[in-house]
Amino acid sequence: MTYHVADASGRLVHSEVIEGPNGSVIHDFAITENYVIWFDPNVALDLHSNLAFPYTWQREYRGRIGVMPRDRSKGGVQWIDVDPYYMLHFSNAWEDADGHLVVEGPFFDEAAWGKASAFINGAAPQGAAPVSGAKRSRWIIDPRQGTARVGLLDDLTIEFPMIHPGFTGRQNRFAYAVVFPDATRAGYGIVKYDMEYDRRWVLDLPIGVYAGEPCFVPDP
Ligand SMILES: [Fe+2]
Repeated sequence: MTYHVADASGRLVHSEVIEGPNGSVIHDFAITENYVIWFDPNVALDLHSNLAFPYTWQREYRGRIGVMPRDRSKGGVQWIDVDPYYMLHFSNAWEDADGHLVVEGPFFDEAAWGKASAFINGAAPQGAAPVSGAKRSRWIIDPRQGTARVGLLDDLTIEFPMIHPGFTGRQNRFAYAVVFPDATRAGYGIVKYDMEYDRRWVLDLPIGVYAGEPCFVPDP
């Protein structure tokens, strides 16, 4: 895995190989004001798989979270061992007043990944939706103690989280995501979460209408 930094004009100003991950599906990462946060999850390349997308849930894989100072003179990656997990996208991350790193995004357990994998591969038990069972979650990472714990925040099946991009890496109030049909609802939707008042609104889409990855447009 290689970490690149571009300046505001788009010029590449730094490239650095990050040692550690070993074939896991790393699709996204998070930043705060002072840290890059890597997620090295338990979905990894399976050389014995005959699936078209041969990345399977591996309990024995050493799932970890890496905390790396954005100021690259301040040291390497601190890897923290965690229980098996998978995450595809992160909505945002920030540093709280206690020095913890807070990261939010949809969390897949083994069953949720199994359904997503079946959809991707067109294999049984293929459901009608690409995501089934991923839930909004929040990691609290303590770099001083070397600990990370995760909790689920909501019961909707969501993916493709989005925020106002101007708040990337800082605490934000609102987040949005695609809501997928599951055992509790028939159609797709878009959810808006209000972190300040712990409430949500769901825009239900007509049955048969699919929502893709949303964009946030400030003051459209
Ligand atoms: Fe993506």
